[in-house]
Amino acid sequence: MIAETLNIKIQKTTHSRLAETDFSDLHFGKTFADHMFQMDYEDEQWKNAKIIPYEKLQMSPSLAVIHYGQSIFEGMKAYKNEKGEIFLFRPLENFERFNRSAKRMCMPEVSEEIFMESIRQLVLLDKEWIPTAAGCSLYIRPVMFASDEFLGVRPSDTYKFMVITSPSAAYYSQPIKVLVESKFARAFEGGTGYVKASGNYGRSLYPSKIAHEKGYQQLIWTDAFEHKYIEESGTMNVIFQVGDKLITPPVSNTILPGVTRDSVLTLARDMGVTVEERKISITELVEAHRKGQLLDAFGTGTAATIAPIELIGFEGEDYMLPPVSERKLSTKIHAQLEAIRFGKAADAHGWAMKIN
Ligand code: COI
Repeated sequence: MIAETLNIKIQKTTHSRLAETDFSDLHFGKTFADHMFQMDYEDEQWKNAKIIPYEKLQMSPSLAVIHYGQSIFEGMKAYKNEKGEIFLFRPLENFERFNRSAKRMCMPEVSEEIFMESIRQLVLLDKEWIPTAAGCSLYIRPVMFASDEFLGVRPSDTYKFMVITSPSAAYYSQPIKVLVESKFARAFEGGTGYVKASGNYGRSLYPSKIAHEKGYQQLIWTDAFEHKYIEESGTMNVIFQVGDKLITPPVSNTILPGVTRDSVLTLARDMGVTVEERKISITELVEAHRKGQLLDAFGTGTAATIAPIELIGFEGEDYMLPPVSERKLSTKIHAQLEAIRFGKAADAHGWAMKIN
């Protein structure tokens, strides 16, 4: 249950961009709904909760976040079904992770009321922006950044918490080609890999660009120490089907505890599938492929949901995966996940939160 006591000042736009938005040609994260939420942290408390028209920010060139990257974010989605019911999917998991990210980055936490009520009121105000075409949803992006105007390296005293939303299609429109990364690392023991610190994503760009130039859309990240064990794929968790088991690296200091990852594993277990959360080496994967046992590989994430991997490149060799039409298990899990998200299937775990 969400408390409704947070006093949010609402200033509605006088010029909605809804009519000029082409909902038949949505991509990921390119179009933004009419409004955004903003709140300030000053004098050790959150204040000035407001929803205002989506607009550019005024920034000082000395803004702490630009210089030292004290910034965190979340990714969530809102879904609308034919009855006009609007759902968030496991939003409290995002709330808790947001505060874990805040703690690791030395930032103030937000209350459950601030997080949930800002999102609920913003999504309901812009509910016409929730796309209903298959595979589409309203992507929700809560973000917090350091807003002191100061060049000394220390935690900022002031922060902004904002929520913007974007009607979006799935992140990937096609199965992806991924390259095993054996030199660069996304995360390392003691680092920030287990939270959504913005810098995690910035540092991934250069190795990803090199992979792109070689014809791969994404990387499979390996451990920073030996580059032997699989960690994540691109911005997603990664899951493999070997025979009739699902295998995925366990969440750790270096692996993000993905909400979609957990949902997929839970649904698989509900279906009686054996799930192993354990270290998996590239050598083991290549061996499973050689024996014809590597039946599926896919990334999981809020933006991408389930992103099938077409092939895995490693040491000059491309290991092809079976066509998506043959991947019965992940297809079944994906369909069930979508049905729960839209309030259309029994929701045994209470994951879909109706907000209207
Ligand atoms: C998400 O899946 O929401 C993510 O965080 C990936 C994003 C960086 C596109």
